[in-house]
Formats: sequence, C-alpha cells, structure tokens
Amino acid sequence: MSLQSWQKPVDCDAKIDTSGLSGKTAVVTGGANGLGQAYIRALVAAGVNVCFGDMNAADGESLAAELSSTNFVKCDVRSWKDQLRLFKEAAASSCSGRIDYVVANAGISVQDDVFSFDGEGEEPSKPDLTTLDVNLHGVMYTVKLSMHYFIKQNGTTPSPTQQDTCLILIGSGAAFLDVPRSVQYCSPKWGARGVMHAMRRTAHFYGSRVNMISPWYVRTKILSQAAFDQVKDAGVEFATPEDGGQCLLRILSDPAVNGRTLFLSPRKWAKNGYLDLDLDEFSQEATFLQEVQADQIKNAPVELGLFP
Ligand SMILES: NC(=O)c1ccc[n+]([C@@H]2O[C@H](COP(=O)([O-])OP(=O)(O)OC[C@H]3O[C@@H](n4cnc5c(N)ncnc54)[C@H](O)[C@@H]3O)[C@@H](O)[C@H]2O)c1
Repeated sequence: MSLQSWQKPVDCDAKIDTSGLSGKTAVVTGGANGLGQAYIRALVAAGVNVCFGDMNAADGESLAAELSSTNFVKCDVRSWKDQLRLFKEAAASSCSGRIDYVVANAGISVQDDVFSFDGEGEEPSKPDLTTLDVNLHGVMYTVKLSMHYFIKQNGTTPSPTQQDTCLILIGSGAAFLDVPRSVQYCSPKWGARGVMHAMRRTAHFYGSRVNMISPWYVRTKILSQAAFDQVKDAGVEFATPEDGGQCLLRILSDPAVNGRTLFLSPRKWAKNGYLDLDLDEFSQEATFLQEVQADQIKNAPVELGLFP
C-alpha cells in the first residue's frame, strides 16, 4: 500500500500559506469565547467567512458585530434543530453556497458525577451526563451535518473537480493522556479520536479531510480562573489561543493533511505552539498491530475499491 496521507506526520515548522483560504466559508461551533473565538479570528484574518454558533447569544452577537465576514447563529449543539439551522444559515450566507470547513469546537468541562462517590450507605444518584450530551452527542450532530454538506457539494464519486473540504474535531490532552477524575470528559475526547480514525480512510473519496486539534491547558472560560491558577501554580505552562488559531490554519491551508492530530502545546514543547503527536499510526516496529489493522480493513468496501 502506498504511503497514505494519514501516515505522514505534519511538518509543524513549515510556513503557513493561507492564500488558498480566502473567500472560503467555515462553520465553528462554540465560537463566542475562548479557543472557538481564536479559531474565528485566525480564519477571518485569512479571508475566510465564518458562520458560528454558540448558546451564549450576548457574546456571540458582540463578536459578530466586531468582526466583519462573520455571522452568528444562536445554537445549542445538543439540539439537532439548532445545528441544522446553523449549517443552513452558513450555506445560505456563503458567497459560493458551499461550506468548506467545519470546526466542531463546542465543549464543556464540569464536575464529573460519574467519578464522584455518593457516600457510604447512600443509594447512588443517577449521574448528570450533560458533558456527554455536549461533547459527544453535539459533536456527532456536527459530524453528520458536515459530511452531509461536503458530500452534497462534491458528489460521491472521486473526481479532480472536487474542492477541498475539511472537518476539524477538537480533542484535548484528555484524548490521549491519563487525566485522573475526568472520567466523563475523557470519554468523548478519546471518542473524537475514534471518529477521526473511522473517517480518515473514506472522507477523501468525497474530496474531504478530517483532522484533530488536541489543546493542552489554555486559559479560557472552560474552567474557573481559580482552577487555572491552581494548575499554573503547580508549575504547568499553558498553550495560547493565538497558537490555536495558527494550528488550525496550518491544517486547513495544506490539502495534504488528513487523519492527523496536532497538539496545541506550550512553546516549551513546540517552537510554533503546536506539533504532530504522531499517535495516529502504528510505528514501523508494531508489525503485529499493522497485521491486525490490515485484517480489520479487509472487509471494508473502500479498501476493495467498491466505494461508495
Ligand atoms: N481551554 C482548555 O484548556 C482546553 C483544553 C483542551 C481542550 N479544550 C477544548 O476546546 C474546546 C473549547 O473550549 P474553551 O476552552 O474555548 O472553552 P470556553 O468555555 O472558553 O468556550 C466554549 C464556548 O462554547 C460554548 N458552549 C458551551 N456549551 C455549548 C453548547 N451546548 N452549545 C453551543 N455552544 C456551547 C460556550 O458558550 C463558550 O462560548 C472544547 O471542546 C474543550 O473541550 C479546551
């Protein structure tokens, strides 16, 4: 098998050429604050029109008023109806009628009821699974809608006229590290890796790519400022939202990047604040796992050339 795009680590020192991004249209979920807002600012600076959703209407409207080339839609990602409206609005407001890029960013991190112990002798209470509703179910809706629009636009048959489209999933350090006490938060973040691995071998038939950004700690509103202070006081260096924006542009501007995870990192670990974790492929030494993977895809129509 020839070396597929997902087998090549991304050169994160390469200069980013955003000239191909101008005039494209992107959807960002959870874009009113934090990293989502940083992705939007980077996209707008690169000439991309952005339609973004957030459940926080006040912050969303104020960002849209500040940034031309943006469009805000009030959207709770847990609601299929809301996300459908977001995508419809994005296509309707796009100069080309197309949606080129999607960043499935909306996410929360709250007290984990699954991990917590309710006390000896007490009947355990039903855990609150809102984190899964937002970080997993909400992302599934975004994935479904992204692929619907991407396939509708590019058709189901590979052809040179297909235009590049890309879905970006948002992981975390919690998508590949041990994060004690974060049982519920880790689950959809590891899950996003599963989604990426499931899709990267088929998306390119539709001229699409799927990649992940996994941020390290970035001071946003996802945790209380006291919680971030505690992490900082323990000697942990943070990554920055601005580097997150550049990390996104690195992926979008290079149509060769498919099926990879970039780690949004403190500068002490990466010159530009992001690096390819190289977690997405078995090493050349892992011959047994390569053999098992080869059997796993034997029955996949794509590998038999029978796709779609
Ligand atoms: N900041 C970090 O340290 C960090 C680390 C790893 C991963 N992440 C991931 O980055 C993403 C963005 O996080 P952030 O740090 O910018 O958080 P943030 O809280 O600063 O911003 C998240 C935005 O999403 C919105 N949102 C929350 N629930 C929503 C819902 N149901 N529907 C629509 N919008 C909703 C919020 O209103 C907010 O505007 C998340 O997926 C998070 O898991 C963040």
